[in-house]
Amino acid sequence: MKLCSPHLLQSILIILSLVSPLCADLNSDKQALLAFADAVPHAPKLNWSNTTQICTWIGITCDSNGSRVSALRLPSLGLTGPIPSDTLGKLEALEVLSLRLNSLTGSIPSDVLSLPSLHHLFLQHNNFTGNIPASFPSHMNVLDLSFNSFTGKIPESLQNLARLTKLNLQNNYLSGSIPNITFSKLKNLNISYNHLNGSIPSSLKTFPNSSFIGNSFLCGLPLNPCSPPLPPPPAHTPPPPPTGDHQEKSSKKFPLWAIIAIAVGGGVAVILLMIILYFCCFKKKKRNRNENENGNGNGNVSSVRRAKSSSVGGRSEKPREEFGGEVQEVENNKMVFFEGCSSNFDLEDLLRASAEVLGKGSFGTTYKATLEESVTVVVKRLKDVVAGKKEFEQQMEMIGRVEPHPNVVPLRAYYYSKDEKLLVYDYLSSGSLLTLLHGNRGGGRTPIDWETRVKVTLGAARGLAHIHAIGGPKFVHGNIKSSNVLITPDGEGCISDTGLSPLIKQHPPTTSRHTIGYKAPEVLEIRKHSHKSDVYSFGVLLLETLTGKQPLQSPGRVGGEDMVDLPKWVQSVVREEWTAEVFDVELMKFQNIEEEMVQMLQIGMACVVQTPDSRPSMDEVVKMIEEVRVSN
Ligand SMILES: *[C@@H]1O[C@H](CO)[C@@H](O)[C@H](O)[C@H]1NC(C)=O
Ligand SMILES: *[C@@H]1O[C@H](CO)[C@@H](O)[C@H](O)[C@H]1NC(C)=O
Ligand SMILES: *[C@@H]1O[C@H](CO)[C@@H](O)[C@H](O)[C@H]1NC(C)=O
Ligand SMILES: *[C@@H]1O[C@H](CO)[C@@H](O)[C@H](O)[C@H]1NC(C)=O
Ligand SMILES: *[C@@H]1O[C@H](CO)[C@@H](O)[C@H](O)[C@H]1NC(C)=O
Ligand SMILES: *[C@@H]1O[C@H](CO)[C@@H](O)[C@H](O)[C@H]1NC(C)=O
Ligand SMILES: *[C@@H]1O[C@H](CO)[C@@H](O)[C@H](O)[C@H]1NC(C)=O
Ligand SMILES: *[C@@H]1O[C@H](CO)[C@@H](O)[C@H](O)[C@H]1NC(C)=O
Repeated sequence: MKLCSPHLLQSILIILSLVSPLCADLNSDKQALLAFADAVPHAPKLNWSNTTQICTWIGITCDSNGSRVSALRLPSLGLTGPIPSDTLGKLEALEVLSLRLNSLTGSIPSDVLSLPSLHHLFLQHNNFTGNIPASFPSHMNVLDLSFNSFTGKIPESLQNLARLTKLNLQNNYLSGSIPNITFSKLKNLNISYNHLNGSIPSSLKTFPNSSFIGNSFLCGLPLNPCSPPLPPPPAHTPPPPPTGDHQEKSSKKFPLWAIIAIAVGGGVAVILLMIILYFCCFKKKKRNRNENENGNGNGNVSSVRRAKSSSVGGRSEKPREEFGGEVQEVENNKMVFFEGCSSNFDLEDLLRASAEVLGKGSFGTTYKATLEESVTVVVKRLKDVVAGKKEFEQQMEMIGRVEPHPNVVPLRAYYYSKDEKLLVYDYLSSGSLLTLLHGNRGGGRTPIDWETRVKVTLGAARGLAHIHAIGGPKFVHGNIKSSNVLITPDGEGCISDTGLSPLIKQHPPTTSRHTIGYKAPEVLEIRKHSHKSDVYSFGVLLLETLTGKQPLQSPGRVGGEDMVDLPKWVQSVVREEWTAEVFDVELMKFQNIEEEMVQMLQIGMACVVQTPDSRPSMDEVVKMIEEVRVSN
């Protein structure tokens, strides 16, 4: 167990991370993909071109620093015919390959089957033929070959895939008996609708009967007992025709909070590998402990855990009792889960996920991490954290208290170590107010109507008012800006990055490029943060929503086209003459909203007055916005 010492792991991992860069080559990935697109007929939608950036190609995900292709997803792109060898097999860093719902034929090339990092392979709903390959990459985690035309037996060598959690082979033409295989990690198995016969090995009897149905000559638990010999039905029933995506969905019934995936890639590789190894060690201990407890015949671990985590209203840590006293060294490096996340959380699910960079902000890099293409979380990797462990934990507790509110993005878990601080959030797929307002301007975008804008700002105002109300006078958001207002599925604004600013080293305001336009004068001058400085930032956000102009981003770039000191600009326009020109041209298309827009402009301007005490509180702002709506 000495091996678990974080220091040793760290040094091993640092060495690993220094060695691996040598073989990276995005250009060879590009050539391999172009060769693939050349050889395989496909829909015109697949517009890969030698002259464009490969990481922006349709279906391509690059690793976090954009140096290799890590995932290729080409579902329903009309791919036809066999996969040529020397194409996809050359994507050495590939981790996820999804070619489902196409018309691919032939067998899977052996070079694809030996890609060292591949762990998710989705080839369902094609017309692959031949035997199930005897050998797959050893880290295989999800293998879906269902709805194809594979024949022959299920190879016994699948036994070697020790990390397999999902195996789908249904709706093929597999025959013979099921080999006596034990999969230690397998959670989902489906071999239904084949031509399998004989008895189901006892190691697989715990799967539901729907994992085996449609094999007329299969018997034993969970199906009917084998003896006495059954009168066989008159004929083999052919596999039913594919029924589309519906099938796939029905086999993924995980509750969202049950799975949190953490991205592995590029810059985060070191720390995440650390977590992985840590959890490997941890898992082992837990198992030992389990055995001990079962042996002693006293209470079991999961009941302790359940009791702990069902405590309402607060966060719940993994209880100490679960690991015993001998694991001090990992105790210091644990992930802490908030309410709603811990009770059924499977630690192994942390280990595998594909990731993409969502953004690099002033607080660090944000990744979107996807598990099995179905559950997605956001992992934020903080940089320049100045808070010590204790202070950090206290702040997290504070954040936990402020939530939940429908207009505050919930923090699900955090991880603190000397070198890494990670936060895990829910993923909101609709993006932020920033992209809503400024995305694709001039590129034929749909104008964002007034209703939408009011709904987003009202939501954001409510979220911020709630943060102020619950957090108390010292608890300031400190970083209100349009990229920190996310859009919920209902189209409301939702505040993210709550409570992070006190943890982060404050750069001199004049050099923090991203946020200067939102900063209140007292913050820029004497760094005095208060609820009222949040109100100022919110006022800038209101003006941004009304004018469609982005606030000043860096001091030297006032001349930039849509980049202005918004409060000053609005005030100057309004002083000259009360004019409609201040509003976003997109809004001019809509009728009968001018009165509301003017009222909203007044609210925004009230928020950005120079003296903090003259600004309204967030509660008042919420009321004023609500009145704008009611009065019409
Ligand atoms: C990205 O990571 C690869 C190895 O993972 C390394 O070779 C490359 O230098 C890195 N690039 C940048 C820009 O950091
Ligand atoms: C390819 O097509 C997608 C839309 O299907 C588009 O968003 C993308 O910009 C195109 N890329 C290139 C390089 O033409
Ligand atoms: C892609 O472009 C590079 C030069 O930019 C050229 O060397 C290479 O041959 C081209 N590849 C293909 C497949 O056209
Ligand atoms: C799949 O391939 C087999 C043999 O090549 C062929 O007989 C069958 O019609 C194909 N099925 C589909 C759905 O294309
Ligand atoms: C299957 O394998 C397990 C252990 O690997 C063994 O205990 C069991 O008897 C085997 N069952 C059959 C039917 O061979
Ligand atoms: C299973 O089917 C194969 C032919 O596909 C046959 O050779 C074998 O005897 C059958 N086994 C049982 C137990 O029925
Ligand atoms: C499968 O199990 C369910 C209940 O667990 C039962 O209702 C059903 O009849 C079973 N089906 C078969 C084919 O055994
Ligand atoms: C397995 O697949 C079949 C048909 O595709 C489906 O009816 C069945 O519900 C699936 N079973 C499981 C356990 O996913």
